[in-house]
Amino acid sequence: MPPNPQRLLRTTYAFGAAGFAALLLLMLASFWLAQRTQSTTENVLKARAQRTVLVRLLSTVQDAETGQRGYLLTGEDRYLKPYETAIADIGQRLKDVRAAFSENPDEGPAIEEIDKAIDDKLAELAKTISAFKAGKPSEALDIVKSDRGKDLMDHIRVLIGEAFQRVDKKLSEGVEQQRVDSSAAREFSLLAGIFILLTALGSIATIVRYTRQLVSARNELQELNTGLENRVAERTADLQRANEEIQRFAYIVSHDLRAPLVNVMGYTSELEASLETLQALTKDPQIDVLATAEAAKAAVTTDMPESIGFIRTSTQKMDGLIKAILKLSREGQRVLAPERINLAEFFDSVADSVQHRVSSAGGEIRVVKPLASIEGDRLALEQIFGNLVDNALKYRAKDRPPVIKISQVSHRWGAVDIEVQDNGRGIGDEDRERVFDLFRRAGPQDQQGEGIGLAHVRTLVRRLGGEITMTSQLGRGTTFRVTLPSKLNTRGQ
Ligand SMILES: Nc1ncnc2c1ncn2[C@@H]1O[C@H](COP(=O)(O)OP(=O)(O)O)[C@@H](O)[C@H]1O
Ligand SMILES: [Mg+2]
Repeated sequence: MPPNPQRLLRTTYAFGAAGFAALLLLMLASFWLAQRTQSTTENVLKARAQRTVLVRLLSTVQDAETGQRGYLLTGEDRYLKPYETAIADIGQRLKDVRAAFSENPDEGPAIEEIDKAIDDKLAELAKTISAFKAGKPSEALDIVKSDRGKDLMDHIRVLIGEAFQRVDKKLSEGVEQQRVDSSAAREFSLLAGIFILLTALGSIATIVRYTRQLVSARNELQELNTGLENRVAERTADLQRANEEIQRFAYIVSHDLRAPLVNVMGYTSELEASLETLQALTKDPQIDVLATAEAAKAAVTTDMPESIGFIRTSTQKMDGLIKAILKLSREGQRVLAPERINLAEFFDSVADSVQHRVSSAGGEIRVVKPLASIEGDRLALEQIFGNLVDNALKYRAKDRPPVIKISQVSHRWGAVDIEVQDNGRGIGDEDRERVFDLFRRAGPQDQQGEGIGLAHVRTLVRRLGGEITMTSQLGRGTTFRVTLPSKLNTRGQ
């Protein structure tokens, strides 16, 4: 599966968003729990304070009673000490209880009732003590024995005990609440932590998978690339071989064709020589007596020389064509010699070589600078641009002086584009491709030529690793664009 960056982004975003949401939830929950714990703790603290004031109240009442008993038993004043302290403190103890339950008096003890019971109790204590002090211990003992003080004390214990129960219940509830909350916090943090960890692992896994895919795709690409390069090299070698074979073939064929042609030309000369003998013979008046004399004379003086003339021009033409093919095939086999060529100087010399012809036609040839420097084969370049400029002059328009412009139109990385532009007679659309074919000519046949030039030019340009294209407007002019590599590739030679 090819790596899909869109999917990677989507998946990592999804994991990131889920992790972030979990984190947010965790934060909110922690905050809420912290609030709750605080209020629970406050309640617990308050309950503990309430319990303390209740304990103190009860112990103060008990202190008073303990002091009274001690005094009644011993009659010593120092036993009255706890009694007196309790009497002094009791008002404050009651106030403390009231204050502790001021917010929720329902939960507190029945304070009025306690107040009343304590008053009664204290009154009973005071009564026994004053009786004892007045020297009537039996009277004091009777009051004690009446169990009224004990009943009051029991009543006070019950009243405070009820409040104790409520406060203790509240305390244990608060503690339980704290336990539940803290375990909930622990569980929730654990869950959220695991979830966040999972999302992190998920995004890491996605990234790792994507990176793996990327690496394997890159390796695949590299392999493909290597394969492709090998195939291109193979095909190039194949083409090179085929090309060489065709050139050899062309050479052999044209070479072998020339041998019989030379024979034909030789025998034609002999025929001409023999013809002279025959012509001399027909001038002899002795043959006039023969019935076929007239016909023989006509054959020897007109028919035969005419035919021999045709044979001669045809064989000469054929010889020229075969020579051209030979030249092309030799050219194809020539080893290119790369050298640094300053195109400005090079085109100046091309222009110089045709300057005389241009001036005598009243025209001009312009080399537009700046021009680049390339590495190329000088001879090949001379033949390419020599042919193009020659054509531009040869196929100029009859009604205007020729203007030829050579310029560099672009310099891409590793290649330059050169244009040879003329204002000549132009080439019709139907001949656009054909003019590059061997022995093909176009337009009026009013100029010498064999239709070899452009075929040769295209072969050479391609051998240099370039390409040639042409645009033309009939009657307006033609532009040839030659693309050349900046550096000659001689690997395939
Ligand atoms: N610059 C040009 N302007 C007009 N026609 C051209 C030009 N160059 C080439 N041609 C046409 O292309 C044909 C082929 O040219 P080429 O291969 O050089 O052969 P040749 O010059 O021997 O005819 C020419 O016959 C001519 O019709
Ligand atoms: Mg030509």
